[in-house]
Amino acid sequence: MYSFKNDYSEGAHPRILNALVESNFEQEEGYGEDRYTRKAVELLKERMGRTDVDIHLLSGGTQTNLTALGAFLRPHEAAMAASTGHILGHETGAIEATGHKIISIEAENGKLTPSHLKAVLNGHPDEHMVKPKLVYISNSTEIGSIYQKNELVQLREFCERNNLILFMDGARLGSALCSAENDLQLSDLPALVDAFYIGGTKNGALLGEALVICRDSLKEDFRYHLKQRGALLAKGRLMGIQFLELFRDNLFFDLAMHANKMADMLRFEICEANITFLTKSPSNQIFPILPNGVINELQSKYAFHIWEKVDSDYSAIRLVTSWATKEEEVAAFVEDLKKLL
Ligand SMILES: Cc1ncc(COP(=O)(O)O)c(C=O)c1O
Repeated sequence: MYSFKNDYSEGAHPRILNALVESNFEQEEGYGEDRYTRKAVELLKERMGRTDVDIHLLSGGTQTNLTALGAFLRPHEAAMAASTGHILGHETGAIEATGHKIISIEAENGKLTPSHLKAVLNGHPDEHMVKPKLVYISNSTEIGSIYQKNELVQLREFCERNNLILFMDGARLGSALCSAENDLQLSDLPALVDAFYIGGTKNGALLGEALVICRDSLKEDFRYHLKQRGALLAKGRLMGIQFLELFRDNLFFDLAMHANKMADMLRFEICEANITFLTKSPSNQIFPILPNGVINELQSKYAFHIWEKVDSDYSAIRLVTSWATKEEEVAAFVEDLKKLL
């Protein structure tokens, strides 16, 4: 059985494991004050060309979202997210448990635009309702789409005009930035969003997300929030070592490029077989629509999620490739699929 279920089905890239092993007997400060974390933070700032951002390393995506949103919002304030947003349907109410409503927005291809936000603001005119304050977007999105620079610029301008916080969930930022359709650089992001994170867990790290806080007013006391949410790890070095290895050279981007290349191969071959897709997704998640009978057969050899029933005969499946997906496995899947069609 080969799995296309996720991009965290494998452990970690061997260079990361080696870095952890090599540093194993060194004694370091705890709680992210170790030399590795400090260096990783400096390196990330260098890569972004910004010394004025704050960077915190957390262990997972849900933890990062809930710690950040819980810290950034005042009690009466709410987040806005596309209905497909991870915080809405896949985080067990973690954000709501911090006391904040999430306003769900139906958005084409999982991406928010200023007109979506305008409609929400118009619908929340006064203190009898929650105050929409934070815009949650993800890049790449939960359905594999990516934001273009001009789309972010438009969101940024709208947020500035309306005093909103723009937050980007970057659990799959590597795949987004390495997509053939991407026109954004890592260094563009601090000027475009108020906070974002660089996902390691889904891009070759054992675990870890690097949260970058760009807006000054959101930075204060963030380590208190981390500690209170159980996110300030005594062995913070684990994340520092990994992010240092990922960004010491081009490893982070090389791994994302590999995942995308494997998805590109799958997409190309599936297209050639005249199969259509549920969404336009130029990243490492693709959603082909297949006859249910074919899906049943494929499931005897491959693991993947059945994403959405399209009609009584067809469903969309989700295929996710990772930094470790093997070309032979992609070729075998395509061959098996073609035989079944
Ligand atoms: C876009 C996005 N954000 C956040 C998460 C949550 O990450 P974790 O499972 O590490 O909490 C995921 C996980 O799939 C995700 O896809």
